[in-house]
Amino acid sequence: MTEQGNKGDALHSMVHRLEDKVYRPSGFWSYSVHQLLIHLKKEKFDSAPRALGFDTEGNEILSYVTGDVYNYPLVGAIATTEALCTAAELLRDYHDATASFVQSDQFGTLRWLLPNREPREVVCHGDYAPYNVALNGSKVVGVFDFDTAHPAPRVWDVAYAVYCWAPFKTHSGDSLGDLTEQTMRARLFCDAYGLSHEDRVCLVETMISRIQTLVDFMHEQAAAGHEGFIANLKDGHDVTYIADIKYLRCHKKPITDYLILSADHSTHR
Ligand SMILES: Nc1ncnc2c1ncn2[C@@H]1O[C@H](COP(=O)(O)OP(=O)(O)OP(=O)(O)O)[C@@H](O)[C@H]1O
Ligand SMILES: [Mg+2]
Repeated sequence: MTEQGNKGDALHSMVHRLEDKVYRPSGFWSYSVHQLLIHLKKEKFDSAPRALGFDTEGNEILSYVTGDVYNYPLVGAIATTEALCTAAELLRDYHDATASFVQSDQFGTLRWLLPNREPREVVCHGDYAPYNVALNGSKVVGVFDFDTAHPAPRVWDVAYAVYCWAPFKTHSGDSLGDLTEQTMRARLFCDAYGLSHEDRVCLVETMISRIQTLVDFMHEQAAAGHEGFIANLKDGHDVTYIADIKYLRCHKKPITDYLILSADHSTHR
């Protein structure tokens, strides 16, 4: 099973490309995402799609982000240390580029798919996983799928990203290496991002809250009749997430000890 539970798998099959444009089903959050993408372009962050408007069939139109794409299980270029570290660097650049957007006058009027979390430091991508980036060789050069973008602290996004990239996943189709290797990869991600000491201390607990929030969201959406999430629950995605929470709880201490082990955790690269 590959984990793509943030919005249910139903949308996936409806994404299509025509030459250099990508058409994706839009939702109430898409206008906000387009404002975000316009802001990123102004900030000279060029690794995200450009917002090209909406068609008459309810699709958003985006520029195509060039690169190779992957999914779980992580094999080949996507599983390398270079991919891991460049992914973390790109997330840092993305967050830094969104900080001024959060401060802008228009920001308070925008609506997002996922609830805001305080403090609103940045606009989190919300699903910064190996299946939502583009690679050139082993280097992560692009990011797409901003449907789950929402304002929150940086560590909220880093926590979910580390969960997906370490990955601290217990399902055999998603896992990579043992706890030691996962913990080393988590540390490399935090170092490449430039995550602060205090954020590292709470990282495992934040991962657990973030995954629990996703499980709750899946249940809410399924109860509201959203087919993608109903199918996800039928396939046991929530059970897998809950197993991952248990795994993180069980190994919280050795993971955290290694994340904070003697380093200059500067918040700026
Ligand atoms: N702007 C883009 N540039 C390049 N490729 C894209 C872009 N948007 C989507 N894709 C491709 O289409 C696939 C599905 O797109 P996307 O991740 O946006 O869909 P989704 O169904 O919302 O995803 P998920 O399954 O992650 O919830 C991606 O894996 C990627 O290969
Ligand atoms: Mg995606």
